[in-house]
Amino acid sequence: MVKDLILKNRTYRRFYQEHKISKEELLEFIDIARISSSGGNHQSLKYIPCYTEEHKALIFNNIKWAGYLKDWDGPEEGEKPGAYIIVLQDKSISNNCLWDHGIAAVNILLSAVEKGLGGCMFGSVNRDQISRSLNLGDNLEILMVIALGKPKENVVLKDAESDGDINYYRDKEGNHYVPKRSLKEVVIDI
Ligand SMILES: Cc1cc2nc3c(=O)[nH]c(=O)nc-3n(C[C@H](O)[C@H](O)[C@H](O)COP(=O)(O)O)c2cc1C
Repeated sequence: MVKDLILKNRTYRRFYQEHKISKEELLEFIDIARISSSGGNHQSLKYIPCYTEEHKALIFNNIKWAGYLKDWDGPEEGEKPGAYIIVLQDKSISNNCLWDHGIAAVNILLSAVEKGLGGCMFGSVNRDQISRSLNLGDNLEILMVIALGKPKENVVLKDAESDGDINYYRDKEGNHYVPKRSLKEVVIDI
């Protein structure tokens, strides 16, 4: 069932770092992103697979983890992602990819979950630093980063409280709780 896959497709931020993800695996995910829907069928997205220690360190040092977890700076050594995919807009093809990158990212993550992996989308990215370090051409704009790995955390969905607090949090055992608004709250019944 697609819903089971979507339920499992949580944001994971701690991984079994020893589980490596190969370039070939990343290319399989990108190959799925490549055939995703695209506004106007422009297909202006490009993807950089990052799997070497050097590139993984560059990405790790230029993304911001879990803004709501104030006392946690990101995964410690041993729990870092196995790989990343940088999603870019090729402005030489189109200046506006609409929401193509969201669709592509979800398809990558669902494919990863189906293989027992998981990950996290990053909008909070030090784009200038990564672009400079990778000598990206002026036509390439970083839209997001996707971290991937073998998840090492328990993520629990719960109903958001009536006060509307949607901050995710962890308990003492490290379980990660994510409040979701109710069906009633999100449907506008006309
Ligand atoms: C567009 C987008 C950008 C995000 N950016 C970040 C980010 O920069 N850093 C981070 O730790 N999580 C990021 N997330 C993960 C969200 O915090 C996460 O989706 C949310 O807490 C709900 O958890 P869930 O994905 O398990 O439902 C992002 C998610 C989306 C969809």
